[in-house]
Amino acid sequence: MRVVVVAMIAAFAGATAAGAEERPVELKPGPGLDKVEGHCGACHSLDYIQINSPFLNAAGWNAEVTKMINAFGAPIDAADAKAIVDYLAKNYGPEAAAAPPTLCLRCFSPRSASAPAPCRATGRSFDGELTMGYNVAVVGATGNVGREMLDILAERSFPADEVVALASRRSIGVEISYGERTLKVKALEHYDFSGVDICLMSAGSAVSKEWSPKIAAAGAVVIDNSSCWRYDSDVPLIVPEVNADAVTGFRKRGIIANPNCSTAQLVVALKPLHDRAKIKRVVVATYQSVSGAGKEAMDELFSQTKAVFQIDEIVPKKFPKRIAFNLIPQIDTFMEDGYTREEWKMVVETKKILDPKIKLTATCVRVPVFIGHSEAVNIEFENPITVDEAREVLRNAPGCIVIDKHEPGGYVTPYESVGEDATYISRIREDATVENGLAMWVVSDNLRKGAALNAIQIAECLINRKLITAKQKAA
Ligand SMILES: NC(=O)c1ccc[n+]([C@@H]2O[C@H](COP(=O)([O-])OP(=O)(O)OC[C@H]3O[C@@H](n4cnc5c(N)ncnc54)[C@H](OP(=O)(O)O)[C@@H]3O)[C@@H](O)[C@H]2O)c1
Repeated sequence: MRVVVVAMIAAFAGATAAGAEERPVELKPGPGLDKVEGHCGACHSLDYIQINSPFLNAAGWNAEVTKMINAFGAPIDAADAKAIVDYLAKNYGPEAAAAPPTLCLRCFSPRSASAPAPCRATGRSFDGELTMGYNVAVVGATGNVGREMLDILAERSFPADEVVALASRRSIGVEISYGERTLKVKALEHYDFSGVDICLMSAGSAVSKEWSPKIAAAGAVVIDNSSCWRYDSDVPLIVPEVNADAVTGFRKRGIIANPNCSTAQLVVALKPLHDRAKIKRVVVATYQSVSGAGKEAMDELFSQTKAVFQIDEIVPKKFPKRIAFNLIPQIDTFMEDGYTREEWKMVVETKKILDPKIKLTATCVRVPVFIGHSEAVNIEFENPITVDEAREVLRNAPGCIVIDKHEPGGYVTPYESVGEDATYISRIREDATVENGLAMWVVSDNLRKGAALNAIQIAECLINRKLITAKQKAA
């Protein structure tokens, strides 16, 4: 991968020092740190390097820096680019933390090779180590989101002792990649979850409704991607950059819900602005890719596009109308008030994750794009906020990257977001039709931040906060 961006564009951001209330981020000292702070910090929070990129090796960092220079025009000369790549690879790539986290046998506190800590019990260095790992099940592993989950678990060196890929009976024995390994898919219905610590559930609402409570009862924490449990008051709905503290609520049912893909990227962008100027109302129009509707939907766009060129008949199956070279202003079913369920989800999920007082209205549209959701967002604030202030706040917010150059191509499109972890914000401008109004364009990879990545970030949150213990190690 991919992720993040190391550098950017002081010119975009009109970069100045971070706002007074922002949490200072301290990166590891070392040669090149000043270049990282000067260039990377000009566009996004330095937190982003720590949170999202433990898996980029020197080649990966180099690709990211090169992309920022070539694709987005970051004003970094060759010497600085090299200093940045060297610093990041040495301090934050997998080469910097090659050893998996370990446990001290005396005090059971985790430690890593890159950041050794003294034993809590003795205050001295460790005299023994135990590999710390979790047993992880991915349900829906053959699907769009499940495959992405396996990729991300491997990329981030998630501390898993064992990863099992589960799907329907149809997929028994199908081979699927997990990093450099190949897993054989097993059937959900025959699997014994008693040894599983974390279950990443991504097989649709009907499967979640039946199976998530059973899996939780077997002792695993279920992180559920479907809409089935999102609106249950005993189930936390989490986007780690926004409401990580709410994750402790998982104990009631043993289930944590992942939001709808359009909601996830939206709240990542809204949260820092809400903290600064208090959002009253949001009007959002989405441009959602077909991958948000599953693998069959991607096949349908592909086959219909081919059929157009071959002058074959087009018969919509997954979508209500032709999607190739078209737009469909309906996602999910209609509700009594004329809105669709997808639009309703964005309203209630934003309230649950961010603030119940925020008013939101949405129009959700399916577009003939394979991966990457885009959103045109208009926001009305209670307090004044300028375009420059908004840009600065977003630039420093976890998970956000501002690409906002007022020239042709100076914004991010869904195609460029594919495989990336960030929520990209472009086209930030005043909405003069309301008092304290802003308009902006928000783009992210729906299979990543909108689904798989967010779920894995939730799992990491549980581990980092020591809210779960690996069963085998606890026994
Ligand atoms: N795509 C997104 O952007 C996105 C974002 C947020 C949330 N979600 C949610 O994530 C879930 C999965 O979405 P997706 O896009 O990955 O769908 P998908 O590509 O259609 O994949 C569905 C997966 O579910 C499995 N499955 C279906 N019925 C099953 C059963 N009875 N038992 C066990 N496994 C079963 C399928 O296995 P087989 O291959 O064996 O049929 C496949 O692995 C959905 O709930 C969706 O709403 C998706």
